[in-house]
Amino acid sequence: MQIGTTLSQFIIEETRLYPGASGDFAALLNDLAVACKFIGAQVYRGSLVGALGSADTGNVQGEIQKKLDIISNDAILKSMDWTGHLSGMVSEEMDGPYTLPGGIPRGKYLLLFDPLDGSSNTDVGISVGTIFSILRAPVAGRDAEPADFLQPGVQQVCAGYALYGSSSMLVYSTGYGVNGFTLEPSIGEYVLTHQQMRIPDETREYAINMSNHRHWENPVRRYIDELNQGTAGPRGQDFNMRWVGSMVADVHRILCRGGIFLYPFDTRNPGKPGKLRLLYEANPMAFLVEQAGGAATTGRQRILEIQPENLHQRVPVILGSRCEVERVTQYCCEESSS
Ligand code: AHG
Ligand code: MN
Ligand code: MN
Repeated sequence: MQIGTTLSQFIIEETRLYPGASGDFAALLNDLAVACKFIGAQVYRGSLVGALGSADTGNVQGEIQKKLDIISNDAILKSMDWTGHLSGMVSEEMDGPYTLPGGIPRGKYLLLFDPLDGSSNTDVGISVGTIFSILRAPVAGRDAEPADFLQPGVQQVCAGYALYGSSSMLVYSTGYGVNGFTLEPSIGEYVLTHQQMRIPDETREYAINMSNHRHWENPVRRYIDELNQGTAGPRGQDFNMRWVGSMVADVHRILCRGGIFLYPFDTRNPGKPGKLRLLYEANPMAFLVEQAGGAATTGRQRILEIQPENLHQRVPVILGSRCEVERVTQYCCEESSS
């Protein structure tokens, strides 16, 4: 039996494709992978280490934090802040950019992350994950300012997620397709198992929180209602539904076998144009989905082209198999122009 290609080997070999690369990026990704292994270990130990349940704190989004949200956030900050490869970090769990400790060089990259996505699922044994996005700092070598992070998703240098599911996986892209690695627990290494993941253009599976049906805008309701009419409806075929409630798990399924994921605009809170956050949820997932041959829009605009206005901005998200995403987007655009 052979070990196979480890994540570190893959990263280093991929870096060799860029003549003159300093190795900073390879080191940064390796350190991030260590943080993800640590988070996965806490998630899997759960109650044994007192990691489940809510903390007494809320985050900037007004959401109750789970203990694992804080554990995961701290794990990433502490695994990354000493490296000298970053000039700043932004997280779902912090109001503003993290201040790097003194005495450490400021690097050329920015790290944006959702430390534990789907954390309301931790107490009930359902898959959760970590989402990350890496940008180039506009000015290397100094502390990043909030405005430095406000770059459209097309400028991401790397995007990925760690899935803490039935297997632990790390999936990422640097713009040359999407590759997935499975954690081999006996040696503590992520090993390449899913090479060049591709999302089929067509699908018969969708993911949406159906309980919000009455709050959706008309084009989304029209689209889902047509799917639910099955063979008797205009689509002439049956569609299946899956909704984990952890975006990482739902997107991972789509990268493995296709599907469409929707967290659309709804009318519950007109001040919030969606639930998911642009910089560390929508952008990295849109990057991965596009790299795997799928599409990602808000219903009216390609997600990766949105010019961000603030760190915790929310956007509607429709992503996955190209033909279905294009169909909903067309329904939304027709409504806008009528
Ligand atoms: P987070 O746990 O980081 O706040 O994100 C949860 C997100 C996402 O993972 C998931 O798709 C969505 O919230 C589920 O929302 P509903 O509970 O409204 O279905
Ligand atoms: Mn999340
Ligand atoms: Mn989260």
